[in-house]
Amino acid sequence: MSLDDPRAAAARTIRAVSAGESLERALDAYRDHSERALIFELSYGVLRHWFSLSEWLDSQLRKPLRKKDLDVYCLILVGRYQLQNSSIANYAAVNLTVEAARHLDKSWACGLVNSVLRTPKKSVQPSIEARFEAPSWLIQSIQRHYPESAEKILQANNTRAPMTLRVNRNRQTAESLAHVLRNHGIATVPGNLANSLSLATPQAANTIPGYNEGWFTVQDEASQRVIEVLAPQPSARVLDACAAPGIKALQLLEAHRDIDLTAVDIDATRSPFGENESLRLGRPLKLHAADATQQDWWNGVLFDSILIDAPCTGTGTLRRKPDIKVHRTPEDVVLLQSGQRHLLCNLWRMLASGGTLLYSTCSILPDENDSVIQHFLGQTADAVTEPISANWGHATRFGRQSLPEEGGADGFFYSRITKL
Ligand SMILES: C[S@@+](CC[C@H](N)C(=O)[O-])C[C@H]1O[C@@H](n2cnc3c(N)ncnc32)[C@H](O)[C@@H]1O
Repeated sequence: MSLDDPRAAAARTIRAVSAGESLERALDAYRDHSERALIFELSYGVLRHWFSLSEWLDSQLRKPLRKKDLDVYCLILVGRYQLQNSSIANYAAVNLTVEAARHLDKSWACGLVNSVLRTPKKSVQPSIEARFEAPSWLIQSIQRHYPESAEKILQANNTRAPMTLRVNRNRQTAESLAHVLRNHGIATVPGNLANSLSLATPQAANTIPGYNEGWFTVQDEASQRVIEVLAPQPSARVLDACAAPGIKALQLLEAHRDIDLTAVDIDATRSPFGENESLRLGRPLKLHAADATQQDWWNGVLFDSILIDAPCTGTGTLRRKPDIKVHRTPEDVVLLQSGQRHLLCNLWRMLASGGTLLYSTCSILPDENDSVIQHFLGQTADAVTEPISANWGHATRFGRQSLPEEGGADGFFYSRITKL
């Protein structure tokens, strides 16, 4: 089996994702591959269009492929994606995809791949899942909660998100970085935040000038806003309770140099990224492994500000993580909601009176957002939410919600809660 062929590599990546692996992790094997860009484009593209592509393929196959041939199934999707959604010439797309079957050690499948890809597409009415490229439970949930804008959200979810940089304010300004990048032939678009900047055409972060010098971090604006909304006081004791891999913790240290930050996360294996980033960006950060639903790691000293950037469905970030559409189920929402409630309830005891807790998620589902806060307020007499006034997103009952927009930022929820 050859790992060098980009179409075979994409098929293997998609197979791993359809068996439960995250796309990010499945792509790890190909980060240094000479055809990395094509493998990423094909893998992301197929997962973005998973629902229509697999519906089409299921209608083409006279009998389902065997489980052990899931890689062939995924390879045919890679072929169809190229014909339907890429600028690769049709003859090259078909021939190279047929050839890729050999690289999967599935020479027997060359004829099948060839004939399915050459069969003209029948025009049939697509299912709602195929039309919106999402599972029906999610489509229904978005339609129920956002009746006015559901179609726009669902369509935006299938577009490519901009690559946004958070400029390291201790080393550059957005204008000076834009100038440097322009001199290297990299066009940028000014951001909506003082320190943000988007690339006109995304590229691997470590190929952008200034990466090694720590001039920027790749971070969506909706994620950057979390720290803007948290706005800790000078020299505050701050807890980042779900900190890994450390993007917002480092942003906090960049923007508020004198705060006393404690950063914990239950998943210690994600901390090397944070520590490497800390070296690159020049701000010392130590991520501690701890379960924030427990108190055994806490020394009893109260915090002035607490950030809970909670684990969630990620339904505001489907453009960046299309595998979420394939993996998430309604049962996940229930499980995540229970974890979110536990985090809030436990961490509240660690907040000083007069202090602020910011609860954020990258979800657009009210079950993980307003409902969690409502439940918490119902059992916490000394908690009140503060309105977040802003020129982005919309106010909800207990916070503020941004929705994924074509060409814009991700979907995020923010709720600021003060302790009386
Ligand atoms: C949305 S991510 C946080 C991203 C992070 N704030 C950043 O900006 O890089 C949610 C994090 O919550 C962590 N987490 C989940 N359950 C937790 C718990 N009980 N205690 C602490 N961290 C937890 C996960 O490991 C994950 O890293």
